[in-house]
Amino acid sequence: MKKFFKIILAVVLVVVLLLAIGYCFIAIKGIPSYTAQTVTVKVSHTPQNVERGLRLASVLCIKCHTGNNSNQLTGREMFDMPPEFGKVYSSNITQHQQYGIGKWTDAQLVYFLRTGVKPDGTYAPIWMPKFVKMSDEDLFSIIAYLRSNHPSVQPAEAVTQKCEPSWLAKFLCNVAFKPLPYPEAPVPEPDTNNLLAYGRYLVAGRFDCFPCHSADFKTVNVFEPEKSEGYLGGGNLLLNEAGAPVYSANITMDAETGLGKYDFEQFAKALRYGNSPHGPLRYPMFPYTILDDLETKAIWTYLNSVPKIKNDVSKKYTSSK
Ligand code: HEC
Ligand code: HEC
Repeated sequence: MKKFFKIILAVVLVVVLLLAIGYCFIAIKGIPSYTAQTVTVKVSHTPQNVERGLRLASVLCIKCHTGNNSNQLTGREMFDMPPEFGKVYSSNITQHQQYGIGKWTDAQLVYFLRTGVKPDGTYAPIWMPKFVKMSDEDLFSIIAYLRSNHPSVQPAEAVTQKCEPSWLAKFLCNVAFKPLPYPEAPVPEPDTNNLLAYGRYLVAGRFDCFPCHSADFKTVNVFEPEKSEGYLGGGNLLLNEAGAPVYSANITMDAETGLGKYDFEQFAKALRYGNSPHGPLRYPMFPYTILDDLETKAIWTYLNSVPKIKNDVSKKYTSSK
């Protein structure tokens, strides 16, 4: 019997030792690096493209990259990131040669925005979105804006603070979060005459509505968005400016728990002006004032085609207390 306990003890010790080694290994190794491929892109820097890119960046980049007390994209602390990932800072992406992205080529920027891998091989995980389904024209126009003479991207001497990822973030980057593959073929423009296809593109490609509006960022399927858990059914835990929970809304057409009882006008007011039938919408949902009528109509058409999900998001507030 004594021998039996000795064996058990030895096994437990070995397991504890292995776990400790694993823990230290991840803590020291940190977020893995990769090799950035060289790709060729042709960005056209016309005034029209700069304008188009500014419009997209105003909803896709500026909220995270604008510095505190600054009108420029100098980076800031991401207070609205889940604290279990550690301390996260967005980068200075002005044209400064040393502190910003002045030295990056257009191709390096495109490669990073698609995959998450920087020119030096370091990888930006979940806290920096990847624009996988965005058309080349849309993505390239954002680059044109970053290179333009718009005041928000002129060289600013602000040092990007280094992210301090938690052990959990490092662990997830070793087992789950990996760079996304670079598209093998050009990503075409959507057909704007087909409202359904255009709407799908807007929700899953151009404006990236679905990661926030599905069940959880960790179960989002970027390649086949509809396969994300709870696709557009809301309930994803997000944080407001003060770090308090705000759950994303169910934007399927379920009559009781989604948008099923809204008419188009009510939907458009909520989406474009943050004015929902049940009151003003809170951060991190902000008014998409830049949307034009066709985009709004297309998103509505597409949302009407998505399978309804019954998910009463309001219940989450009480159950989490
Ligand atoms: C949800 C917040 C968020 C949004 C939205 C966002 N970023 Fe970022 N971005 C970050 C964070 C955080 C980092 C730092 C990542 C790291 O170093 O691990 C980053 C890093 C970068 C970098 C790398 C800079 C460097 O020097 O390492 C570039 C370039 C960049 N973002 C461009 C963009 C562009 C362009 C957009 C819009 C199309 C955008 N980002 C949208 C949060 C965001
Ligand atoms: C950063 C995450 C995020 C993104 C991106 C986002 N949303 Fe939201 N959205 C939310 C949150 C959180 C709420 C709930 C706000 C509240 O309860 O006050 C919300 C609320 C809404 C509502 C109001 C629902 C209601 O019950 O009145 C609509 C409609 C909506 N979003 C549509 C969209 C569409 C369409 C897009 C893309 C163009 C989008 N959202 C992008 C987080 C996001």
